[in-house]
Amino acid sequence: MPLTELAVGDLRCIESAELRFSPGVNVLYGANGAGKTSLLEAIFLLGRGRSFRTRINERLIRHGCQEARVIGRLGDERSRQIGLGFRRTAGARADTTIRVDGRAAEGLAELATTFPVQILDPDAHKLIEESAGRRRRWLDWSVFHVEPVFGKAWTRYQRALAQRNAALKARQSPSMWDTELVKEGEVLTASRRQVVEALQPYWSRAVLELTGLEIQMSFHAGWDRQQSLQDSLTQHLTRDRERGSTGVGPHRADLSLRYQGKMAKEVLSRGQQKLTAVALALAQLEFLKDTVGLLPTVLLDDPSAELDQAHLERFIGRIQSLRTQLIVTALERNFGWFGAPESVFHVERGQVFRV
Ligand SMILES: Nc1ncnc2c1ncn2[C@@H]1O[C@H](COP(=O)(O)OP(=O)(O)OP(=O)(O)O)[C@@H](O)[C@H]1O
Ligand SMILES: [Mg+2]
Repeated sequence: MPLTELAVGDLRCIESAELRFSPGVNVLYGANGAGKTSLLEAIFLLGRGRSFRTRINERLIRHGCQEARVIGRLGDERSRQIGLGFRRTAGARADTTIRVDGRAAEGLAELATTFPVQILDPDAHKLIEESAGRRRRWLDWSVFHVEPVFGKAWTRYQRALAQRNAALKARQSPSMWDTELVKEGEVLTASRRQVVEALQPYWSRAVLELTGLEIQMSFHAGWDRQQSLQDSLTQHLTRDRERGSTGVGPHRADLSLRYQGKMAKEVLSRGQQKLTAVALALAQLEFLKDTVGLLPTVLLDDPSAELDQAHLERFIGRIQSLRTQLIVTALERNFGWFGAPESVFHVERGQVFRV
């Protein structure tokens, strides 16, 4: 369901703003520092419960204020509502409350199902450049929406992993956690593997179209697949004891991107890396639509910084043809893409005006 209404209070530089979005293309334009990315951050929070800019929720609260609020309404009839609050505490962490349709949410999974949202921002190339964590989270978001068993297995796996690591740190035997870790770990891995396989044709097409290069995507489970996960845990036990944490398993999984046999980040230019990230996004969206009929709201933060005009038009055209909701930010009202957006907002020093 598309986001139809957004209300923001005391988040970043935005004291108060209310916006009504269209189900198609929406544009937020304004000068540097006006608050455009902060608005996308607010929207992203509705579907993810965390920011794409910081892990420290306290930073979201407007300076000098005690609490930040974000409320979103989804769909028209039978609409649903998500509300988030971040309250300052004595420590560095803000207290977070998440409500769906007026009652406390059952965790981040409920947000993700209620409001699927994806972002493509000027940091997108980090997906290629940085360590496995980002790519794993990117993949898992797809897997979560496609494989019904994934969400619970992931939660149980994380819990078992935390217990096992705590045992290792306390110099106790970690093996009582292995059964759970292995059981859930195999479920996670099978789901991830299936999704990567099904994603492949979408990926090859998108990456070839955007970069002109044949960049290979392959899945690494997080341990040596010649061995079972249990055998691998056993083999690494001495090292795990030394470092006080578990060094192998699905929490180390990665999606490797290679061009002519070399790691993409080592051989692709910055511009090519950005296009590769855009191709990943496009492949993911087309795959999710075909596989489970999922149409996430897509946030594009300053896409003209990523793409030249030809690529930008092609990309937005492809996303539009999926009929997914698009919320785009730009410095100028005419940002080099000449289609007609359904809604345009001018963002100026933390205030939002409908144009
Ligand atoms: N907690 C906060 N309280 C008040 N202001 C904040 C807070 N956090 C960030 N800001 C300010 O909010 C302003 C808007 O930032 P934002 O990133 O949303 O701008 P933007 O419109 O995306 O700009 P750009 O075009 O440069 O990307 C910045 O000037 C920033 O310093
Ligand atoms: Mg910005």
